Amino acid sequence: MKKLTIAIDGHASTGKSSIAKKLAIKYGYIYINSGSMYRAVTLYVIQNNLLLLLKSDIDLFIKKLSSTSIHFKFNDNDLISEIYMNNINIEQQINTLEVSEMVSEIAAIPEIRREMVKLQRNIDRNMGVVMDGRDIGSVVFPDADIKLFLTASDSVRAKRRFDEMILKGESVKYESILNNIKNRDKLDSSRLDSPLVIEKDAFLIDNSNMTINDQLEVISNIIDKKLLN
Ligand code: CDP
Repeated sequence: MKKLTIAIDGHASTGKSSIAKKLAIKYGYIYINSGSMYRAVTLYVIQNNLLLLLKSDIDLFIKKLSSTSIHFKFNDNDLISEIYMNNINIEQQINTLEVSEMVSEIAAIPEIRREMVKLQRNIDRNMGVVMDGRDIGSVVFPDADIKLFLTASDSVRAKRRFDEMILKGESVKYESILNNIKNRDKLDSSRLDSPLVIEKDAFLIDNSNMTINDQLEVISNIIDKKLLN
């Protein structure tokens, strides 16, 4: 059976990682959330108080960063890969509003993108890969077998993220989440290096009124057709 590379890009909080995880489990592929890598760098900046260094000496910052290990480990219970920094599982810590409020500024820095893209391209694609992010179909894997672009209305996206965070016990305001989503979309789409764009050969999916199972069905059809070709 052919093993595909599936690139899922799209606006902030469109459920890319939820659908990517389900697809990876269904097809037995590796799942990589590239956003979690930019979030890890952001957490590293916050934890080590490195914002000033980042702005004044990017080369030194990159040197420090390269002595930090950022990698994924497969979690046998959940059947997904989770992100670790220096061997500590940081899945919870990277998904706070504090990180979300800084990540797009940091992800716009070309030197940081270069390092992250290098790591992303190290993945063994022979196993089949689902990777989600902002520039996967355009920059990381322009030759991906399937490119998807997910979007949804601002309010639906903010409500989903709000519910998710409340469920995790975070005290956040809906308005703050809505603003963060809008800001990130603006920054991600307008940056000079690898902006968020809809590739010509991408399937555009607006999931405002779709359940996760609806999406799974639509996308599985696309994948199954490709596997038959
Ligand atoms: O909140 P959501 O799951 O939509 O975002 P994410 O995938 O965790 O990505 C967080 C941020 O990382 C984005 O808003 C982008 O600024 C940046 N990012 C990027 O620049 N390129 C990627 N391939 C993935 C994420």
